[in-house]
Amino acid sequence: MLIQRHADGATLALGDVPEPELGHGQVRIAVRAVSVNYVDRFVPQGGYGKPPADGVPWVAGLDAAGEVTEVGDGVTGVRVGDRVMAMVPSSLAEQVVADARFTVPIPPEWSHEEGAAAIVALLTECSALSAADGLSAGESVVITGATSGMGLQGVQLARHLGAGRIIAVARSDRADDVLHRLGADLVLHSPGRGFAKHVLDATGGTGADVAVDHVGGSYFPDLVAAAAINGRIVNVGRAAGAEATADLEAFSLKQLTLRGVTFRTRTPAELTGLYQQVRNLDLTKLRPVIERVVPWQQTEEAQGLLSTGAVVGKVVIRVAVED
Ligand SMILES: NC(=O)c1ccc[n+]([C@@H]2O[C@H](COP(=O)([O-])OP(=O)(O)OC[C@H]3O[C@@H](n4cnc5c(N)ncnc54)[C@H](OP(=O)(O)O)[C@@H]3O)[C@@H](O)[C@H]2O)c1
Repeated sequence: MLIQRHADGATLALGDVPEPELGHGQVRIAVRAVSVNYVDRFVPQGGYGKPPADGVPWVAGLDAAGEVTEVGDGVTGVRVGDRVMAMVPSSLAEQVVADARFTVPIPPEWSHEEGAAAIVALLTECSALSAADGLSAGESVVITGATSGMGLQGVQLARHLGAGRIIAVARSDRADDVLHRLGADLVLHSPGRGFAKHVLDATGGTGADVAVDHVGGSYFPDLVAAAAINGRIVNVGRAAGAEATADLEAFSLKQLTLRGVTFRTRTPAELTGLYQQVRNLDLTKLRPVIERVVPWQQTEEAQGLLSTGAVVGKVVIRVAVED
C-alpha cells in the first residue's frame, strides 16, 4: 500500500515494489495484519514522517503481525513458521523484513489481528513506564488520551503491573465501560483543563505518582497540579499541542520529574531492552481492544476512522493476498 504524495497531500494506492532484501539478523514476515496508528491519520494531508527521496515508493504501515517465512544469518530464537508481531516501518505489504531482536512471539491465544493491535501500544506504554522509573505496587497513575489505542493499553498495563488508583482522562465518555473493564478506577472527562482537582480528590489529596500523557498541550498544567510529591510525568504524545506551560514553582516544590519518550531516537540496545520487556509480560492478560478489522483495500477508510472520535480500540487492516 503505497503513499503517493502530491501537491495537496497524499493518497494511498496498491502497487508493486521489489521484495525487501533479507539482511543479517533479520527475518522475513508474511504480513497478515497491520494496525492503524495515530500518525496514519495525517497521510491525507501529506504529513507522514520524513518524505522519502524523490521517486522512491513509500510503503505505509508501522507495525505488523504475521508468520516468519525466512530467517537471515545470525538470527537466533526466531524460526520459520513462528507467528510474530513487530513495530516495523513500511509494513502494509505482503511481506516485510524486520530485525529479529525487534519481534515478539504472538501468544497462541491471540489472532494476528490482536498481535498487530497490541505491539506498538505495548512497546510505547512499557517505554513510558520505564521512563517513569517503573511503577511500584500501589502507585497511582493518571493516563490522558485514555481513549487512544496507546491509552487503552496503558490502563491495562498499569493494572497488570499492580498500580493503585488508575485515573483515565478522556474527552468523551464513549470508552468509559471499556476503560473500567481494563482497570481504570475513575474516568474523568475533560475538554483540556481542570481535571487536577478531581485527581487530587481521587487520591486523597496526595496526587498522582505517575502520569502517562498522550495529549500534551493544555493538559500539561493539570498534570503538574495533579502530581504527587516526587511524581513522574512522562510525555508520550502531543495531540493537543507540542507547547505547554508549567508552574515551575509547583514543579520544584513537588520535586517532579518530566520525561519524554519516542522511538525515533532510540539506540538498538534500548530497543532490544524494550522488546525484552514486552516478551517478559504475561500477554494473555493484556489482550488488546479492537474496534474493527477491515480488508486492506479499505486502508484509507480505516485510517479515516481514527479521526472520527468514535472508535474504541484499535482499527486493524487484514492483509490477505488473495483478496
Ligand atoms: N512517544 C512514542 O513513542 C509514541 C508511540 C506511539 C504513539 N504515540 C503518541 O501517542 C498518542 C496516541 O497514539 P494512538 O495511535 O494511540 O492514537 P489514537 O488511537 O488515534 O488516539 C488519539 C487520541 O488523542 C486524543 N486527542 C486527539 N486530539 C486531542 C486534543 N486536541 N485534546 C485531547 N485529546 C486529543 C483522542 O481523543 P478522542 O478519543 O477524544 O478523539 C485519542 O484519545 C499520539 O499522540 C501518538 O503520536 C507516541
